[in-house]
Amino acid sequence: MMSEVAQVDGALNRRMLLGTASAAGVAALLGGCSADRPAYASVPGTGLHAIGASRNIRFGSAFAWAPPGEDAASFGNPAYAALLQAECGMLVAENQMKWQALRPSPTQFDFARFDAMAAWAQQQGKALRGHTLLWHYDRWLPDWLNAYDYGARPEAEAERLLVEHVRTVTARYGTRIASYDVVNEAVDPDAGTLRRTSLSRAMGSAEAVLDLAFHTARAHAPHAELVYNDYMSWEAGNERHREGVLQLLQGFRTRGTPVDALGVQSHLAIFDSGVPVAELVERQSPAWRGFLDAVVAMGYRLVITELDTRDRGLPADSATRDAGVAAYTQGYLELMLSYPQLTDVLTWGLADRYGWLRTFDQRPDGLPTRGLPYDADLRPKPMRAAIAQAFANAAPRPAR
Ligand code: XIL
Repeated sequence: MMSEVAQVDGALNRRMLLGTASAAGVAALLGGCSADRPAYASVPGTGLHAIGASRNIRFGSAFAWAPPGEDAASFGNPAYAALLQAECGMLVAENQMKWQALRPSPTQFDFARFDAMAAWAQQQGKALRGHTLLWHYDRWLPDWLNAYDYGARPEAEAERLLVEHVRTVTARYGTRIASYDVVNEAVDPDAGTLRRTSLSRAMGSAEAVLDLAFHTARAHAPHAELVYNDYMSWEAGNERHREGVLQLLQGFRTRGTPVDALGVQSHLAIFDSGVPVAELVERQSPAWRGFLDAVVAMGYRLVITELDTRDRGLPADSATRDAGVAAYTQGYLELMLSYPQLTDVLTWGLADRYGWLRTFDQRPDGLPTRGLPYDADLRPKPMRAAIAQAFANAAPRPAR
């Protein structure tokens, strides 16, 4: 156990890693994180969710559906299911609640896979997030919707389709889903304007589509937290995207659209080789705080919905990369958790063995990204300790 603390600490400013916790406290927090013993076989109460719970912070992860026994990030894989059980208090389906998964055609819904995931989450006593009622990005909508013939009254037909979708999904899961990414990624990151889809063309404006999605969600899931979710991030280059998201959030308030929280996906990335991670954190913090201040000033809560950290700017050596990813993630989380409006933190998967980072934005040297709390052998990495430490260092949230 101490070896991992030392390993992380070696590459970090000691105060930043240990914060105010004592070394014994850190050792307790890292319970089960030794190099030779996986955390999921560890002492009860030492999972990330349990650590967060003492601060009213909920921790969770994305998970997937796969046939039982398949080596996948699924509850049907006993090794991964054990990790989910030990670490998470909340779960979200990586793909299985999206239109592409639920809507094979305009007239059919296929809930089989997501139903199984929701049932498992409920059986395990895990809260469930709904991702997503509308990914307003044609690249990720079903082909049939992108090519849809809206007929003689396109506006009415688009409204009918969207309302039917939101109502059917929210009604099916009722209070089992406490928080929805109602709309995902509606802002074009380069232009800062709203993306167009077949729905927005039929309805005449993207705002009308998004507003309708939120109003319908509120009407049919009045219990649920309604989230606008996007990937504007704290790295340089996201300025337009952040500006576009602020404009959208302001527009929601002006029009009275029922949106409770901003989902900050938090697909972080260390791009700059040669710049120490602590310096990146320092450099990126002021603009990011400015953005978050503006968001909370409009009355929005914050949710970290899809945390992971790409390491393309770090050298190949695994220990160096793991220490850098841990430091960067901890710096980010500590900034985020300084906002009491943030209570839920979800990673986009738990282990480097699975998931989208194996193919998305790969490292120039072709090595697999080490961007999640557990490695390809499902062993805990310094990133897990960094999340635990950020939770331990956070002020308790007001109970919700
Ligand atoms: C990704 C999944 O992880 C991939 O398996 C899939 O091919 C594409 O979508 N932002 C989101 C998530 O909101 O839904 C995306 O998930 C990752 C980026």
